Amino acid sequence: MVTVFGLGFVGLTTALGFAHLGYKVYGIDVDEERKNTLRHGELPFYEPYMDEVLTEHLDKNFFVTDDIKKAVSESEYIYYCVGTPYGKNGSANLEYLFSAIDMASNAVDDDKFRVMVIKSTVPPSTTAEKVYPYVKAKNKNFGVANNPEFLREGYCWKDFIEADRIVLGCNDEKSKEMLIKLYEPMNIPIKCVSHSTGEFIKYLSNTLLATLISYSNEMSQVADAIGGIEIGEAFKILHMDKRWNNCNMTSYVYPGCGYGGYCLPKDTCALYSQSEAKGFSPQILKNVINTNEKISRAIAEKIAKGLDNSAKIGILGLSFKPNSDDVRDTPAAKIIKELNALGYKNIYAYDPIANAEFKRRYPEINIEYKESAKAVSDSSDVIAIVTAWDEFKVFKHVKDKKIIDCRYML
Ligand SMILES: NC(=O)c1ccc[n+]([C@@H]2O[C@H](COP(=O)([O-])OP(=O)(O)OC[C@H]3O[C@@H](n4cnc5c(N)ncnc54)[C@H](O)[C@@H]3O)[C@@H](O)[C@H]2O)c1
Repeated sequence: MVTVFGLGFVGLTTALGFAHLGYKVYGIDVDEERKNTLRHGELPFYEPYMDEVLTEHLDKNFFVTDDIKKAVSESEYIYYCVGTPYGKNGSANLEYLFSAIDMASNAVDDDKFRVMVIKSTVPPSTTAEKVYPYVKAKNKNFGVANNPEFLREGYCWKDFIEADRIVLGCNDEKSKEMLIKLYEPMNIPIKCVSHSTGEFIKYLSNTLLATLISYSNEMSQVADAIGGIEIGEAFKILHMDKRWNNCNMTSYVYPGCGYGGYCLPKDTCALYSQSEAKGFSPQILKNVINTNEKISRAIAEKIAKGLDNSAKIGILGLSFKPNSDDVRDTPAAKIIKELNALGYKNIYAYDPIANAEFKRRYPEINIEYKESAKAVSDSSDVIAIVTAWDEFKVFKHVKDKKIIDCRYML
């Protein structure tokens, strides 16, 4: 049996994934609204296909519960999928993780062996130097492992069920054997490594993606500075190189508005901060972060070029990527704030699914929300495509409006 702490994108996918494999799974969260939504069989966020899986497993072998004692007592596996947001100086904030560890540990009063599995993204050395000693000091019979998650929002279910690899960071045989047994039915390559290696692999992945994006954005600025360069076309021709083998990775080697979302920004900062704290200052990462921080200003200036402050500016797309309503660290928020700082206050915006979430998360941003891309276009002197939603492709044929295609998608 499995208990999962944290029912966000990662935790809910993990819980339903294990339920799908036939295990009994308890889900625990501290967010009452989120739990109620789930108990009604609804998703608290937009994620394709997940509603069907929730309907299939809810109250059959997936239970959203407040009874931590019962859940943890019955479980052999305790998964941690809580958030690890920005902390001090860009480091990862581990307070939710430790609080959830306390919740499980306080609920246990027997000596059955259980493994605590950290699926949240935590910087290398966190399990070995912080979590493991913390758990051991509780003198209860817990193993500690990490099992980083590589899923992408928008593809959560597929990426979990058809994962490329399962990484297990373990320092004891018993936890390792139990985890291999848990995942064996999935028939996916399992790699067992040390605690810190497990964590490092996740950051290798995310910081490489961030680097590819910052590289592409810097190159687009080089091209803009030189002039006369068809930027989108140039990148598409780059992708024709057989060495890319038509892989999905090319979507990260393409200019846009900078990386956003819940993972790449905070994880790149956290690895930089962790490495600095350990005595090495990584210069590539430093500049990847720097480029990403500056890109919103550059884009705002590009949108505003030649406009006076009374101009009406339309923003198309608010989520950090298409097919998602996640607006955490979304480039749209940064670009709008930069436009405001440049003196532009008449801003109209539309996103196919993220208007409400954007309004909720950024109450300080004063824009007029519209119900369609056309309504934004009709109200604005200039429109900027900030998120590459397919439905914005119709603007390819619009000739009577100034369009800044910040995603090079038209
Ligand atoms: N979102 C992604 O695409 C993704 C991909 C891979 C890894 N990750 C990592 O996985 C972790 C979770 O990410 P997410 O996007 O699912 O976050 P999320 O914000 O969607 O969900 C986290 C959940 O944890 C809950 N929580 C906080 N404290 C808790 C506690 N003590 N007990 C129980 N629940 C608690 C929150 O209420 C929230 O519902 C992060 O470390 C993230 O970096 C995220």
